[in-house]
Amino acid sequence: MPVMLDIPVNIPGGQYPIFLGEGLLGDVGTLLQGRLPGKRVVVISDDLVSPLYASPVLHGLNAAGFASEHLTVPAGEGSKSWDALQRLLDTLLARTIDRKTTLLALGGGVIGDLVGFAAAIALRGLSFVQVPTTLLAQVDSSVGGKTGINTAAGKNMVGAFYQPLAVMMDSATLSTLPPRHLQAGYAEILKYGLLGDAAFFAWLEENGKAVLARTPNALHHAIAHSCRAKAAIVAADEKEQGVRALLNLGHTFGHALEAVTGYGDQLHHGEAVAMGCRMAFQLSVSLGLCPASDAQRVERHLNALGYPATLPTLVSGQAWDSERLLQAMEGDKKNSHGQKTFVLAKGIGETVLQAGVPDETVRTVLQRFGAS
Ligand SMILES: NC(=O)c1ccc[n+]([C@@H]2O[C@H](COP(=O)([O-])OP(=O)(O)OC[C@H]3O[C@@H](n4cnc5c(N)ncnc54)[C@H](O)[C@@H]3O)[C@@H](O)[C@H]2O)c1
Ligand SMILES: [Zn+2]
Repeated sequence: MPVMLDIPVNIPGGQYPIFLGEGLLGDVGTLLQGRLPGKRVVVISDDLVSPLYASPVLHGLNAAGFASEHLTVPAGEGSKSWDALQRLLDTLLARTIDRKTTLLALGGGVIGDLVGFAAAIALRGLSFVQVPTTLLAQVDSSVGGKTGINTAAGKNMVGAFYQPLAVMMDSATLSTLPPRHLQAGYAEILKYGLLGDAAFFAWLEENGKAVLARTPNALHHAIAHSCRAKAAIVAADEKEQGVRALLNLGHTFGHALEAVTGYGDQLHHGEAVAMGCRMAFQLSVSLGLCPASDAQRVERHLNALGYPATLPTLVSGQAWDSERLLQAMEGDKKNSHGQKTFVLAKGIGETVLQAGVPDETVRTVLQRFGAS
């Protein structure tokens, strides 16, 4: 078995482990022994991940005495939809799953969110396990129990807080991840430094390039640190009534950018979050909360790693419209009483939730980054 880290996630209902190891995939079956309610495990992945990684997981499960089955859904954000959810549930029910069946999500954030939500509602709740294979899913989405799908009203508008029994990540799976997805996932790592851990940000300034170059030690450290940070925040506030909202740093802007581009290939979630972090720091400076030098440090770090300094040109050729972006922010889950709420920075490593941010100031920030 590979060298492994075991990070506990403590939530009010109990505790579950995050296992992280290079080459762990084949040991998933062994690691799950004694942890599942029954012997039947349905492995669900997308059609890009399946040919790469389903086989070692299925073999490992069978060798450990489980009866494993495999289902595949189309790759891409489109699978976080009512249609895909319905198809998945119908297929599972047609296979006469029972309450002791476990669903295993093998893939990126899309698979984790979809399968987690299916597990939350099939037969009023099945056990599920996360085996994340993208950097974004390993450092963020697989931990903490947020599951769900997108609807006409927006991203993640329907879902459940539903915790897995275990999260098992194999950093070796990142060897096949396209560089663009690696860079997108890195934005969520950066977020942990910016929102509450200046020392980690300083480490990233030194080692960010090595993380993106997939240098094993750097990558392992960044993933482990991020998982610990996420686990601590989730333990303090599972249902996002307080501190967990800080994980939304860069996301109010980011989600608006994604909404305008239609959640497609044009702008990936992590790319939107990286731009959103620049904007959130700039907004914090504009509101007199944060020294300009800290915002510049964030900008320098992102520039050094090759993230675009301004909004990328839209495929349509049209300009980014600040009014549309402001409108997209109106549906943000953090808003209350019609007031826009942002996660803002007092400096690197110190963030606050701020309600009542004026549109005018947000508009100026959007325009500074290239919106009309
Ligand atoms: N639940 C949460 O807390 C949370 C947090 C952040 C993001 N999210 C959600 O996560 C989703 C984005 O996740 P994502 O970026 O992982 O996207 P994704 O699941 O679409 O994966 C990205 C692409 O990489 C492919 N892929 C996955 N693993 C691979 C590997 N090892 N090698 C090669 N290709 C691989 C996938 O097939 C897909 O095409 C969004 O829907 C977002 O809303 C959820
Ligand atoms: Zn995110």
